[in-house]
Amino acid sequence: MVCLGNICRSPLAEGILAHKIQHLDVTVESAGTAGYHIGKMPDERSIEIANKYEIDISNQKARQFSRADFDEFDIIYAMDTNNFAHLTSLAKNQNERDKIRMILNEIKPESFDSVPDPYYGGDNGFHLVYNMLDEACNKIITQIE
Ligand code: 4NP
Repeated sequence: MVCLGNICRSPLAEGILAHKIQHLDVTVESAGTAGYHIGKMPDERSIEIANKYEIDISNQKARQFSRADFDEFDIIYAMDTNNFAHLTSLAKNQNERDKIRMILNEIKPESFDSVPDPYYGGDNGFHLVYNMLDEACNKIITQIE
């Protein structure tokens, strides 16, 4: 799960998907395309909304996406079109490019809709983001179960 800072959207996406697939042998991680917040815990507003749904993301630590992640992971979900473009620029071949997907395309195929960045907005934004990611993760699990 990849966003810009790895403190708002992708930690939530990681927490939600990991929670839904606890019974499966699947690794879910998140990262940011930028390195601004490396080592930090998720934004308190993300922690709070996850808590509301009994998901604990407070032990996550922000990290920057690395090219090695293309080897480690089978699917790489971008939260928005900027993340998608950035990831695409890091991919070194078609096999790596094929791993990159827009997470909201899971809900609306080929839409290339972005999960809005809630960082500068109010708590409402986090609620909206949570609901979008929850719906997308429900679609994802139907494919990996
Ligand atoms: P995220 O949100 O990409 O969902 O983690 C952001 C977090 C921090 C910044 C931007 C977006 N920032 O500019 O510091």
